[in-house]
Amino acid sequence: MPREPLITGSPLDDDEGAVPLASERELLWSLRPASLVEYIGQQEIVDNLKVAITAAQQRGEPLDHVLFHGPPGLGKTTLAHIIANEMGAHITHTSGPALEKPGDIVGLLSNVEAGEVVFIDEIHRLSRTVEEYLYSAMEDFSVDIIAGQGPKARSLRYRLERFTLIGATTRAGNLSAPLRDRFGIVAHLDFYTDDELAAVVTRSAQLLETPLAHEAALEVARRSRGTPRVANRLLRRVRDYAQVQGDGRVTLDLAQIALKREGVDDRGLDKTDRQYLTTIIEQYAGGPVGLEALAATLNEESSLLADVVEPFLLKIGFVNRTPAGRRATKAAATHLGYLDAALEQPRLL
Ligand code: ADE
Repeated sequence: MPREPLITGSPLDDDEGAVPLASERELLWSLRPASLVEYIGQQEIVDNLKVAITAAQQRGEPLDHVLFHGPPGLGKTTLAHIIANEMGAHITHTSGPALEKPGDIVGLLSNVEAGEVVFIDEIHRLSRTVEEYLYSAMEDFSVDIIAGQGPKARSLRYRLERFTLIGATTRAGNLSAPLRDRFGIVAHLDFYTDDELAAVVTRSAQLLETPLAHEAALEVARRSRGTPRVANRLLRRVRDYAQVQGDGRVTLDLAQIALKREGVDDRGLDKTDRQYLTTIIEQYAGGPVGLEALAATLNEESSLLADVVEPFLLKIGFVNRTPAGRRATKAAATHLGYLDAALEQPRLL
Protein backbone atom coordinates (compact mmCIF):
# COMPACT_ATOMS: atom_id res chain seq x y z
CA MET A 1 0.00 0.00 0.00
CA PRO A 2 1.52 3.36 -0.94
CA ARG A 3 1.70 5.64 2.06
CA GLU A 4 1.05 9.37 2.08
CA PRO A 5 4.21 11.29 1.20
CA LEU A 6 6.23 12.25 4.22
CA ILE A 7 7.42 15.76 3.70
CA THR A 8 10.28 17.29 5.62
CA GLY A 9 11.55 20.78 4.97
CA SER A 10 9.28 22.86 2.80
CA PRO A 11 8.25 21.20 -0.44
CA LEU A 12 5.93 23.96 -1.46
CA ASP A 13 8.57 26.62 -1.67
CA ASP A 14 10.84 24.44 -3.70
CA ASP A 15 12.59 25.71 -6.75
CA GLU A 16 10.67 28.86 -7.51
CA GLY A 17 12.28 32.27 -7.22
CA ALA A 18 9.41 34.38 -5.91
CA VAL A 19 7.67 32.51 -3.09
CA PRO A 20 3.88 32.72 -3.43
CA LEU A 21 1.44 33.00 -0.49
CA ALA A 22 0.66 29.78 1.41
CA SER A 23 -2.91 29.44 0.04
CA GLU A 24 -1.62 30.08 -3.45
CA ARG A 25 1.12 27.50 -3.04
CA GLU A 26 -1.38 24.88 -1.96
CA LEU A 27 -3.49 25.60 -4.99
CA LEU A 28 -0.53 25.48 -7.35
CA TRP A 29 0.47 22.18 -5.74
CA SER A 30 -3.03 20.79 -6.28
CA LEU A 31 -2.76 21.56 -9.99
CA ARG A 32 0.29 19.36 -10.42
CA PRO A 33 -0.20 16.14 -12.34
CA ALA A 34 0.02 12.96 -10.26
CA SER A 35 0.93 10.53 -13.05
CA LEU A 36 3.09 10.47 -16.18
CA VAL A 37 -0.01 10.19 -18.41
CA GLU A 38 -1.26 13.53 -17.11
CA TYR A 39 2.14 15.18 -17.49
CA ILE A 40 2.44 17.60 -20.41
CA GLY A 41 5.79 18.38 -22.10
CA GLN A 42 9.37 17.09 -21.49
CA GLN A 43 8.36 14.23 -23.77
CA GLU A 44 11.73 12.54 -24.04
CA ILE A 45 12.21 12.52 -20.27
CA VAL A 46 8.68 11.20 -19.69
CA ASP A 47 9.16 8.43 -22.28
CA ASN A 48 12.49 7.39 -20.76
CA LEU A 49 11.04 7.39 -17.26
CA LYS A 50 8.14 5.19 -18.40
CA VAL A 51 10.60 2.59 -19.68
CA ALA A 52 12.81 2.76 -16.59
CA ILE A 53 9.85 2.53 -14.19
CA THR A 54 8.27 -0.39 -16.05
CA ALA A 55 11.59 -2.25 -16.18
CA ALA A 56 12.25 -1.70 -12.47
CA GLN A 57 8.73 -2.85 -11.61
CA GLN A 58 9.10 -5.97 -13.75
CA ARG A 59 12.31 -6.84 -11.92
CA GLY A 60 10.78 -5.99 -8.55
CA GLU A 61 13.60 -3.53 -7.87
CA PRO A 62 13.64 0.13 -6.88
CA LEU A 63 14.21 2.61 -9.72
CA ASP A 64 17.78 3.72 -10.34
CA HIS A 65 18.77 7.05 -8.74
CA VAL A 66 17.54 10.04 -10.76
CA LEU A 67 18.99 13.55 -11.12
CA PHE A 68 16.81 16.33 -12.53
CA HIS A 69 18.46 19.59 -13.45
CA GLY A 70 17.26 22.75 -15.11
CA PRO A 71 15.74 26.15 -14.36
CA PRO A 72 13.18 26.54 -11.57
CA GLY A 73 9.48 25.89 -12.06
CA LEU A 74 9.77 23.35 -14.89
CA GLY A 75 8.60 20.29 -12.97
CA LYS A 76 11.56 18.68 -11.19
CA THR A 77 9.65 18.29 -7.91
CA THR A 78 6.48 17.25 -9.71
CA LEU A 79 8.33 14.48 -11.55
CA ALA A 80 9.89 13.23 -8.31
CA HIS A 81 6.44 12.90 -6.73
CA ILE A 82 5.06 11.29 -9.90
CA ILE A 83 7.87 8.69 -9.85
CA ALA A 84 7.03 7.78 -6.25
CA ASN A 85 3.37 7.56 -7.18
CA GLU A 86 4.03 5.39 -10.22
CA MET A 87 6.31 3.10 -8.19
CA GLY A 88 3.68 2.92 -5.42
CA ALA A 89 6.44 4.12 -3.09
CA HIS A 90 6.58 6.39 -0.11
CA ILE A 91 8.48 9.66 -0.71
CA THR A 92 10.53 11.61 1.80
CA HIS A 93 11.08 15.16 0.63
CA THR A 94 14.01 17.17 1.94
CA SER A 95 16.58 19.64 0.65
CA GLY A 96 20.34 20.17 0.55
CA PRO A 97 20.37 23.02 3.10
CA ALA A 98 18.11 21.02 5.52
CA LEU A 99 20.74 18.26 5.77
CA GLU A 100 23.36 20.12 7.77
CA LYS A 101 25.21 17.38 9.64
CA PRO A 102 26.21 13.79 8.82
CA GLY A 103 23.71 12.73 11.52
CA ASP A 104 20.88 14.29 9.47
CA ILE A 105 21.58 12.19 6.39
CA VAL A 106 22.40 9.01 8.33
CA GLY A 107 19.21 9.44 10.39
CA LEU A 108 17.16 9.94 7.25
CA LEU A 109 18.63 7.02 5.32
CA SER A 110 18.57 4.58 8.20
CA ASN A 111 14.82 5.08 8.40
CA VAL A 112 14.02 4.51 4.72
CA GLU A 113 11.96 1.48 3.82
CA ALA A 114 12.67 -0.81 0.89
CA GLY A 115 11.77 0.91 -2.38
CA GLU A 116 11.28 4.32 -0.79
CA VAL A 117 12.00 7.49 -2.76
CA VAL A 118 14.21 10.08 -1.07
CA PHE A 119 13.92 13.43 -2.79
CA ILE A 120 16.67 15.98 -2.14
CA ASP A 121 15.88 19.36 -3.63
CA GLU A 122 18.73 21.83 -4.19
CA ILE A 123 21.11 18.90 -3.94
CA HIS A 124 23.99 21.16 -5.06
CA ARG A 125 23.75 22.82 -1.62
CA LEU A 126 24.72 19.70 0.35
CA SER A 127 27.87 20.14 2.39
CA ARG A 128 30.84 18.07 1.25
CA THR A 129 30.79 15.90 4.40
CA VAL A 130 27.09 15.10 4.08
CA GLU A 131 27.60 14.44 0.37
CA GLU A 132 30.33 11.90 1.11
CA TYR A 133 27.89 9.78 3.14
CA LEU A 134 25.68 9.62 0.08
CA TYR A 135 28.34 7.94 -2.07
CA SER A 136 28.22 4.52 -0.39
CA ALA A 137 24.52 4.91 0.40
CA MET A 138 23.76 5.33 -3.32
CA GLU A 139 26.23 2.77 -4.54
CA ASP A 140 25.85 -0.17 -2.20
CA PHE A 141 23.12 0.90 0.21
CA SER A 142 25.35 1.20 3.24
CA VAL A 143 26.87 3.95 5.35
CA ASP A 144 30.02 3.85 7.45
CA ILE A 145 29.58 5.33 10.88
CA ILE A 146 32.48 6.17 13.18
CA ALA A 147 31.74 4.93 16.69
CA GLY A 148 33.79 6.14 19.65
CA GLN A 149 36.66 8.60 19.67
CA GLY A 150 40.44 8.70 19.51
CA PRO A 151 42.36 5.40 19.30
CA LYS A 152 39.20 3.44 20.17
CA ALA A 153 37.23 4.88 17.27
CA ARG A 154 35.88 2.17 14.98
CA SER A 155 34.16 2.33 11.65
CA LEU A 156 30.88 0.40 11.56
CA ARG A 157 29.16 -0.46 8.32
CA TYR A 158 25.43 0.07 8.54
CA ARG A 159 23.24 -1.60 5.93
CA LEU A 160 20.36 0.39 4.43
CA GLU A 161 17.27 -0.72 2.59
CA ARG A 162 17.43 -0.32 -1.19
CA PHE A 163 15.97 3.08 -2.02
CA THR A 164 15.80 5.53 -4.92
CA LEU A 165 17.46 8.90 -4.50
CA ILE A 166 16.04 11.69 -6.62
CA GLY A 167 18.10 14.87 -6.68
CA ALA A 168 17.01 18.18 -8.14
CA THR A 169 19.20 21.14 -8.91
CA THR A 170 19.17 24.35 -10.88
CA ARG A 171 22.96 24.08 -11.06
CA ALA A 172 24.21 20.78 -12.42
CA GLY A 173 27.63 22.41 -12.85
CA ASN A 174 27.93 22.83 -9.08
CA LEU A 175 27.58 19.11 -8.38
CA SER A 176 30.77 17.22 -7.74
CA ALA A 177 31.64 14.58 -10.35
CA PRO A 178 31.50 11.66 -7.83
CA LEU A 179 27.94 12.59 -6.86
CA ARG A 180 26.78 13.22 -10.44
CA ASP A 181 28.25 9.91 -11.60
CA ARG A 182 26.20 7.95 -9.06
CA PHE A 183 22.90 8.84 -10.71
CA GLY A 184 21.79 6.21 -13.24
CA ILE A 185 19.26 8.55 -14.86
CA VAL A 186 20.19 12.17 -15.51
CA ALA A 187 17.60 14.42 -17.12
CA HIS A 188 17.77 18.08 -18.09
CA LEU A 189 14.43 19.88 -18.09
CA ASP A 190 14.12 22.60 -20.69
CA PHE A 191 11.65 25.44 -21.15
CA TYR A 192 8.21 24.48 -22.48
CA THR A 193 6.84 25.50 -25.87
CA ASP A 194 3.87 27.87 -26.05
CA ASP A 195 1.61 25.01 -27.17
CA GLU A 196 2.68 22.84 -24.25
CA LEU A 197 2.08 25.67 -21.81
CA ALA A 198 -1.31 26.39 -23.36
CA ALA A 199 -2.19 22.73 -22.75
CA VAL A 200 -0.98 23.02 -19.11
CA VAL A 201 -3.10 26.15 -18.60
CA THR A 202 -6.14 24.55 -20.24
CA ARG A 203 -5.84 21.51 -18.00
CA SER A 204 -5.49 23.72 -14.90
CA ALA A 205 -8.48 25.87 -15.92
CA GLN A 206 -10.55 22.69 -16.15
CA LEU A 207 -9.46 21.64 -12.66
CA LEU A 208 -10.35 25.14 -11.41
CA GLU A 209 -13.68 24.97 -13.29
CA THR A 210 -12.84 28.21 -15.09
CA PRO A 211 -14.02 28.71 -18.68
CA LEU A 212 -10.94 29.75 -20.68
CA ALA A 213 -10.89 30.70 -24.38
CA HIS A 214 -8.18 28.96 -26.40
CA GLU A 215 -6.65 32.32 -27.45
CA ALA A 216 -6.56 33.37 -23.80
CA ALA A 217 -4.75 30.12 -22.91
CA LEU A 218 -2.20 30.82 -25.65
CA GLU A 219 -1.76 34.40 -24.44
CA VAL A 220 -1.05 33.25 -20.88
CA ALA A 221 1.29 30.60 -22.31
CA ARG A 222 3.24 33.12 -24.42
CA ARG A 223 3.84 35.30 -21.42
CA SER A 224 4.88 32.61 -18.94
CA ARG A 225 8.64 32.47 -19.55
CA GLY A 226 8.37 28.88 -20.80
CA THR A 227 7.54 27.83 -17.22
CA PRO A 228 4.41 25.91 -16.09
CA ARG A 229 4.57 27.26 -12.58
CA VAL A 230 4.51 30.82 -13.89
CA ALA A 231 1.68 29.88 -16.29
CA ASN A 232 -0.43 28.47 -13.46
CA ARG A 233 0.21 31.52 -11.32
CA LEU A 234 -0.75 33.90 -14.13
CA LEU A 235 -3.84 31.81 -14.84
CA ARG A 236 -4.98 32.44 -11.28
CA ARG A 237 -4.52 36.19 -11.65
CA VAL A 238 -6.39 36.22 -14.95
CA ARG A 239 -9.13 34.10 -13.43
CA ASP A 240 -9.52 36.55 -10.50
CA TYR A 241 -9.75 39.45 -12.93
CA ALA A 242 -12.34 37.72 -15.13
CA GLN A 243 -14.41 36.92 -12.04
CA VAL A 244 -14.38 40.50 -10.70
CA GLN A 245 -14.43 42.50 -13.94
CA GLY A 246 -16.34 40.11 -16.20
CA ASP A 247 -18.65 37.14 -15.89
CA GLY A 248 -15.95 34.66 -14.87
CA ARG A 249 -15.09 33.54 -18.39
CA VAL A 250 -11.51 34.26 -19.39
CA THR A 251 -11.48 35.91 -22.80
CA LEU A 252 -8.42 37.10 -24.70
CA ASP A 253 -9.19 40.76 -23.91
CA LEU A 254 -9.56 40.13 -20.19
CA ALA A 255 -6.40 38.02 -20.15
CA GLN A 256 -4.40 40.79 -21.85
CA ILE A 257 -5.61 43.47 -19.43
CA ALA A 258 -5.01 41.26 -16.38
CA LEU A 259 -1.50 40.31 -17.52
CA LYS A 260 -0.60 43.94 -18.14
CA ARG A 261 -1.79 44.80 -14.64
CA GLU A 262 0.50 42.04 -13.33
CA GLY A 263 3.45 43.83 -14.93
CA VAL A 264 4.05 41.03 -17.43
CA ASP A 265 4.87 42.35 -20.90
CA ASP A 266 4.15 40.78 -24.28
CA ARG A 267 7.36 38.69 -24.20
CA GLY A 268 6.56 37.51 -20.68
CA LEU A 269 9.21 39.66 -19.00
CA ASP A 270 8.38 40.82 -15.49
CA LYS A 271 9.67 43.78 -13.50
CA THR A 272 12.84 41.99 -12.36
CA ASP A 273 13.72 40.92 -15.92
CA ARG A 274 13.27 44.47 -17.17
CA GLN A 275 15.29 45.96 -14.31
CA TYR A 276 18.07 43.46 -15.01
CA LEU A 277 18.24 44.41 -18.70
CA THR A 278 17.75 48.15 -18.13
CA THR A 279 20.61 48.14 -15.61
CA ILE A 280 23.00 46.46 -18.06
CA ILE A 281 21.98 48.85 -20.83
CA GLU A 282 21.88 52.11 -18.86
CA GLN A 283 24.51 51.64 -16.17
CA TYR A 284 26.97 49.39 -17.98
CA ALA A 285 26.53 50.63 -21.56
CA GLY A 286 25.07 47.27 -22.60
CA GLY A 287 27.84 45.24 -20.89
CA PRO A 288 29.91 43.24 -20.40
CA VAL A 289 29.30 43.32 -16.68
CA GLY A 290 30.17 40.66 -14.10
CA LEU A 291 27.35 38.88 -12.28
CA GLU A 292 28.42 40.07 -8.83
CA ALA A 293 28.62 43.73 -9.90
CA LEU A 294 25.21 43.45 -11.52
CA ALA A 295 23.71 41.78 -8.44
CA ALA A 296 25.14 44.53 -6.20
CA THR A 297 23.71 47.27 -8.43
CA LEU A 298 20.30 45.58 -8.49
CA ASN A 299 20.44 44.76 -4.78
CA GLU A 300 19.59 41.13 -5.57
CA GLU A 301 21.22 37.81 -4.74
CA SER A 302 23.54 36.74 -7.56
CA SER A 303 22.08 33.21 -7.28
CA LEU A 304 18.59 34.58 -8.00
CA LEU A 305 19.90 36.29 -11.13
CA ALA A 306 21.87 33.25 -12.30
CA ASP A 307 19.23 30.61 -11.50
CA VAL A 308 15.92 32.39 -12.00
CA VAL A 309 16.31 35.50 -14.15
CA GLU A 310 19.05 34.69 -16.64
CA PRO A 311 18.15 31.25 -18.03
CA PHE A 312 15.03 32.52 -19.80
CA LEU A 313 16.72 35.73 -21.03
CA LEU A 314 19.55 33.60 -22.43
CA LYS A 315 17.03 31.28 -24.03
CA ILE A 316 15.21 34.10 -25.87
CA GLY A 317 18.48 35.75 -26.88
CA PHE A 318 18.11 38.88 -24.74
CA VAL A 319 21.40 38.37 -22.94
CA ASN A 320 24.73 36.76 -23.76
CA ARG A 321 27.24 35.34 -21.30
CA THR A 322 30.78 36.16 -22.37
CA PRO A 323 34.04 35.50 -20.50
CA ALA A 324 34.08 39.20 -19.61
CA GLY A 325 30.52 39.17 -18.23
CA ARG A 326 26.89 39.62 -19.26
CA ARG A 327 25.86 41.62 -22.32
CA ALA A 328 22.37 42.76 -23.27
CA THR A 329 21.66 41.99 -26.93
CA LYS A 330 20.21 44.25 -29.62
CA ALA A 331 16.99 42.24 -29.40
CA ALA A 332 16.71 43.17 -25.72
CA ALA A 333 17.48 46.84 -26.40
CA THR A 334 14.89 46.90 -29.18
CA HIS A 335 12.26 45.20 -27.01
CA LEU A 336 12.80 47.76 -24.24
CA GLY A 337 12.60 50.68 -26.69
CA TYR A 338 16.27 51.68 -26.66
CA LEU A 339 16.75 50.88 -30.35
CA ASP A 340 14.52 51.48 -33.31
CA ALA A 341 13.52 47.98 -34.47
CA ALA A 342 13.76 48.86 -38.17
CA LEU A 343 17.02 50.80 -38.11
CA GLU A 344 18.68 49.40 -34.97
CA GLN A 345 19.65 53.00 -34.22
CA PRO A 346 19.50 54.46 -30.73
CA ARG A 347 16.18 56.27 -30.20
CA LEU A 348 16.54 60.03 -29.78
CA LEU A 349 14.81 60.91 -26.54
N1 ADE B 1 1.03 21.53 -14.12
C1 ADE B 1 2.24 22.02 -13.89
N2 ADE B 1 3.13 21.42 -14.73
C2 ADE B 1 2.44 20.55 -15.47
C3 ADE B 1 2.79 19.65 -16.52
N3 ADE B 1 4.04 19.56 -16.96
N4 ADE B 1 1.82 18.90 -17.07
C4 ADE B 1 0.56 19.03 -16.62
N5 ADE B 1 0.18 19.85 -15.67
C5 ADE B 1 1.10 20.62 -15.08
